[in-house]
This record gives sequence, C-alpha cells and structure tokens, in this order.
Amino acid sequence: MTEQVSTYIPEQVSEVEALAKSAFDQVKTPEDLQSFRIEFLGKKGMITYLLKGLGQLPPEARREAGIRINLLRQEVEDLITLKESSLGREAEARRLEAEVIDVTLPGKGTPLGSRHPVNLVILEIKKIFVSLGFEVWEGPEIETDYYNFEALNIGRDHPARDTQDSFYITPDILLRTHTSPVQIRCMEIKAPEVPLRMVAVGKTYRRDNDATHSPMFHQVEGLVVDRGTSLAELKGTLLAFARRMFGSETRIRLRPSHFPFTEPSAEVDVSCPICGGGGCGVCKQSGWLEILGAGMVHPNVLRAGGYDPEAVNGFAFGMGVERIAMQRYAIDNMRLLFENDLRFLGQFR
Ligand code: DAH
Repeated sequence: MTEQVSTYIPEQVSEVEALAKSAFDQVKTPEDLQSFRIEFLGKKGMITYLLKGLGQLPPEARREAGIRINLLRQEVEDLITLKESSLGREAEARRLEAEVIDVTLPGKGTPLGSRHPVNLVILEIKKIFVSLGFEVWEGPEIETDYYNFEALNIGRDHPARDTQDSFYITPDILLRTHTSPVQIRCMEIKAPEVPLRMVAVGKTYRRDNDATHSPMFHQVEGLVVDRGTSLAELKGTLLAFARRMFGSETRIRLRPSHFPFTEPSAEVDVSCPICGGGGCGVCKQSGWLEILGAGMVHPNVLRAGGYDPEAVNGFAFGMGVERIAMQRYAIDNMRLLFENDLRFLGQFR
C-alpha cells in the first residue's frame, strides 16, 4: 500500500473513477448504495485512500492530483445524492401502490342489534301508563315472604300459595312470584299521600316450564289509591290501555274472579286483536283473549301499605308481558323468547 501511495500516479484516479462508475451501475437498493458509499468514501474507501496519499506526492504533482481527486469525490457524492432521492421516490411509489385503497369496495359495516320483543312490549306498556298519569316503580326480584304473600292477604295456609310455587333461598326469602309486592313497597313510601298511581314492571319467577310458561317471566303491575276511586275507573283505565296497545276498536270485558289481594276481583279479556272478536285460531274461536287480573284493593292490603281503608280505596291490576308479546307478534312458543336465537330475535324492531 505505502509503496503504491508513494508511487502515486494520476492513472490511479482514472482507475478509481472507472471502478466507481461500474460499481454505481450495480446500485439498485438503499443497501447497495450504502455499500457503494463505504467502498469509495468510507474511512478505508478508495477515494479516501487516494486523498491520504496526496501528502506523499512531490509538491508540484500534489496540486493537480488534489484537484482531480476532489473532483472525483464531488462527482461520487453527487451520484450518491441523486441515487438517494430516486431510490426514495421508488420506495414511496411502491409503498403507495401496496397501500392502495379501493374506495368502491363495500364497507365492513357494524350489524345493528334490535330490541327484544319483551322489551319492546314493556316500553310500550310503560309509555301508555305514563301518559295516563302513572309513575314507574321498581321492586326487588328477591323478596321476603311478607311482601310476596303476607302483606297481600295471602296467609301461610292460603291455597293461593300452591299456584305460586317459587324458588326459595330461605323459608322466608324467595324469588318473587309476581310484581304485586311492589304495591306494598310503594304504598309504604307514599302513604298517606293520594292519589297514588304507579306501574311496576319486572322479572318474576315460578316453578313452571312448558310451551306457555317459563320459570322466569315478566309482569306489569298497576295500582291506584285515591279517595273514592271505583270499578268504573278501573275499567276505563284498562280500556284506554287496551285500545292503545291493541288498536282503537278493541273492547274489554271483566269476568268475576278471585285474588286474595282484591275484592271484588276480575279476569280481564280483550277482544281478539287478530280476528276482531269473530273467532280464530289465536283466540280459540272465542273472540276473547285473557290478558290480566284486576280488582278493587282489599282493605287488608291497603292497611299493610299504611293507608286507612275507611278513608281511601284503590284498584289494581297485573298482567304477563310474555303473553302480550306472544299475542302481539303471533308467537306460539314462549321458549322462543328466551332461547336467544338471533334469527328469531332479529325480526323485531
Ligand atoms: N299478581 C297476580 C298474579 O300474578 C296478578 C294480579 C291480579 C295482580 C289481580 C293484581 C290484581 O294487581 O289486582 O297472578
């Protein structure tokens, strides 16, 4: 090496220049360019090597050789700069091509859920009663024997308990069998205020399970306590509700019945919304559908709620939401409501 430097001749510059040109022609990638830069301009690169040798030339040759080597270095640096930007542009173009987005492709979309038919009916029932001046109340699903039975005039040995077998947590705590206990809870808070108008909606539980019964179902409870309310007011309220719920032509009828917490008591039927009362499969040719139980609140129940049955009276009603949903949407098996099959549930909006 030292030998070569000391015997430096301008031909070496031409040689390096030729080498640089042919090496540059091979540069295709940023990595190639980096190797090229090191090969010629790096610490041990050929041009650096030539520059280092300058000092050993006789002064008269040094100037001219210096100019030539620096020109060559400038030339190589320019080539590198040019190549850098062209490689950059190519890379950018490739990236853009790879990332191209076809804005005409269909979007992925987020499937929209739909409300459960039971919830649709609950919302509608609430809306109707709120418009009639009722407040919406809630009560616990885990109830005590007292609220679920005793306070509703259903004593320990009352036969009505047999029809409402439930799931007991202790002998005194159970999953409520109806929403009627909310009547007592509401009266306890409101008494002696009148008028009291409330509806309570929620889950209820019984030891039942077949095509028309589910161990968990929903009820709507209604209670009015006032001075001098009447069976006529009860009937008018339920007729207004039925017409809003099932159509303006709907009629209702009250049949005598018995509930321990009302006296007198009635089963309430609506004219069949499918056939209008003429008789069809849904109403089993009778023209009527039973939708709720109702009556004038029993004095013992008013007393349990903290009201004086000598001063006020009341009416109450209770209905099963699934029943109404099934009639509304012509659903023939209650289990469909709780199987969570989206093909079924997606039909309700
Ligand atoms: N709680 C009754 C049941 O589950 C339904 C009922 C009937 C509620 C008459 C009432 C009523 O408020 O007055 O079978």
